[in-house]
Amino acid sequence: MSTRIIVIGGGPGGYVAALRAAQLGAEVTLVEKKALGGTCLNVGCIPTKALLHTADLFRTAQRAATIGLKVEGLRVDWPTLQQRRANVVRRLVSGVDLLLKQAGCQVINGTARLQDKRSVTVTLADGSEQVLAADKIILATGSEPVRLPLPGFDLPEVILSDAALSLDKVPESMLIMGGGVIGVELASLYQNLGTRCIIVEVLPQILPNLDKELAQAVHTHLARLGIKIHTGAKVKSCVPADQGVTVAVTAQEGELSFNVSCVLAAVGRRPATAGLNLEAAGVATEQGRITVNDQLETSVPGIYAVGDAIGGIMLAHVASAEGTVAAENAMGQGKKIDYKTVPSCIYTQPEAASVGLSEEEALKAGYKVKIGRFPLAANGKALIEGDRGGFVKIVANERYSEVLGVQIFGPRATDLISEAALALRLEATLDELATTIHPHPSISEAIAEAALAANNMALHIPQRR
Ligand code: NAI
Repeated sequence: MSTRIIVIGGGPGGYVAALRAAQLGAEVTLVEKKALGGTCLNVGCIPTKALLHTADLFRTAQRAATIGLKVEGLRVDWPTLQQRRANVVRRLVSGVDLLLKQAGCQVINGTARLQDKRSVTVTLADGSEQVLAADKIILATGSEPVRLPLPGFDLPEVILSDAALSLDKVPESMLIMGGGVIGVELASLYQNLGTRCIIVEVLPQILPNLDKELAQAVHTHLARLGIKIHTGAKVKSCVPADQGVTVAVTAQEGELSFNVSCVLAAVGRRPATAGLNLEAAGVATEQGRITVNDQLETSVPGIYAVGDAIGGIMLAHVASAEGTVAAENAMGQGKKIDYKTVPSCIYTQPEAASVGLSEEEALKAGYKVKIGRFPLAANGKALIEGDRGGFVKIVANERYSEVLGVQIFGPRATDLISEAALALRLEATLDELATTIHPHPSISEAIAEAALAANNMALHIPQRR
């Protein structure tokens, strides 16, 4: 008899776990209460990138004359853009549905909770309940935005990232609370569409988890777009105004007040585990996140958990990698995740991406490091694409020249970073990166040049003598 696996949650963690388990011969049931694809496909990565794509083209078209194009009557058609966003999402969601069906997975649209260690109760849309027995269970319930209990934060003008993707019009102005990935991407999106954006970040720098140099490059770029950025600043309250809201902020410059059309709260996400009835099976949690061992098994043997629900690095690609590993382990394998090669990607234009250790992290970990930098101003393809201020930075172990981390700021950095991730996975050296023949002309040449630069051997920039 085949192993019966129930997967709770149909996001990038859950649906990938279901597909992998089915591939390995399991009889899989996936329960999802909303739409397949989870946050990423429905109200996260995919719709954000669909909107950013148009916003970037809009900005590029504004300097059409400089690149040999004549554009007249350029303007944003918001309803059509929203329609396109919805269409992209719909296509991808139905793609996931098709993949699951073709893999033989049963998909139930309902809300699941644990009944005990080996069974799950599902409440269907009509209120009826169904109890399903399982040999193994994989929990992949994702996360939800953190809501801060600040005065005025229950006003309709204060929105979260999901609502920010389907506004009925482009707002005149927006204060973004939180200079993390969501704050930065949505500020870039709306500023490019014509909104006056202000970012308020409580820490001394935006994107605090990123390499300082990379975060600074994004900061400079956003400021150049016209976004006002206040770091080391705290939002205190929000009150209704004649038009929009007035937001009180304590900043380094003193007490500030901003009148804006809306406020986007983007101060992080937390695991969504409420209502799962984890206690019934004895699944342990720590500050709301489900705790797992290095094989992604919870405190209850046979129950696994993946993705945002276990905290850690809350990214879709991490959830999918964990989903694969959990499914394999549920089917009797003993796999572990290598988190060393998780890329971080920021979809501003130019994009920012990094993998491995930042310079600060490498130093903190006790490495003696050498740094290779290559400016994209010296790269032909980047110049053609109109890059301003991009770079590749490689952090290497001085002793063995092993690549420890790579940071890229420039066009399609989020694609280029995969080469660096592979380099880390293969424990590649600077020499191996540099002597890999890169296509010309391509922005990827800058990776080889940065590897050379670490040893003062770059060919396309003057070297220190
Ligand atoms: P985040 O954790 O990336 O950033 C939140 C920011 O808000 C931090 O910089 C924090 O210091 C700041 N903050 C916290 N409290 C504050 C306060 N009271 N006032 C002002 N600032 C405050 O969280 P974010 O941006 O909400 O994203 C949530 C999750 O979604 C993250 O795990 C992120 O990695 C993921 N995500 C990833 C994307 C990507 O990979 N491109 C895109 C969007 C989200």
